[in-house]
Amino acid sequence: MALKHFSVVLLLSALGVDAAVFTFENRCAMTIWPGIQPSAGRPLLMNGGLELQPLETTNVTAPIGWSGRFWGRSGCTFNNHGEGTCETGDCGNGLYCNGAGGQPPASLAEFTLDSPLDFYDVSLVDGYNLPLSVFPYDDSRVCPSIRCDTDLNLHCPSNLQVKGNHGETVACKSGCTAFQSPEYCCTGHFQDPNICKPTKYSEYFKHGCPTAYSYAFDDGSSTFTCREANYMIIFC
Ligand SMILES: *[C@@H]1O[C@H](CO)[C@@H](O)[C@H](O)[C@H]1NC(C)=O
Repeated sequence: MALKHFSVVLLLSALGVDAAVFTFENRCAMTIWPGIQPSAGRPLLMNGGLELQPLETTNVTAPIGWSGRFWGRSGCTFNNHGEGTCETGDCGNGLYCNGAGGQPPASLAEFTLDSPLDFYDVSLVDGYNLPLSVFPYDDSRVCPSIRCDTDLNLHCPSNLQVKGNHGETVACKSGCTAFQSPEYCCTGHFQDPNICKPTKYSEYFKHGCPTAYSYAFDDGSSTFTCREANYMIIFC
């Protein structure tokens, strides 16, 4: 049964049948540049990057069985050829990430479509740069939203702050990103949900964004499922 499902997914994927529309919306006061990284073996969408002016929306269509992640980049300077860098979420390839991911700290929206349900979450495990929310729009309107519209840069603990060119905090590292230690990253002896527990740093993220992942073994309430939906990905 599982194999049959997998074959159908591959066939529909090969035929280019669309699974879902992701509608990106920028509610920030400044321009942001979403990045898109497909999981291994999944197709690239929009060459991995796009620009979104304030209040602009863009539809991105993903094929059946797609999986990958979205994040926002801020403070970018790109030339006419799309070459340049960003203050946060930079992928090292300019405007079009072409498969590369964003440098932490960056808030992530992660999707696995048609498996057989759609699985989605917002992850702050590697830190936070921008408010990022996911709103499914399904016919039945029963799929949960993930609202993470709190500005977590505002009260970011001083040893987690990433400063921008003007001295303002532009991103907030997670404990794992800041200290790279087993107890914050849930690695080594801490690679066990019974041992790796929330820390004061992960609790800062959890308090602001209760339905986002705040550390690797965050409770099961951080992953959500939906069926045959489209999704709004909202920055700020
Ligand atoms: C974007 O996709 C949604 C969902 O399919 C649709 O309702 C909306 O009209 C689309 N917007 C544009 C500009 O194509």
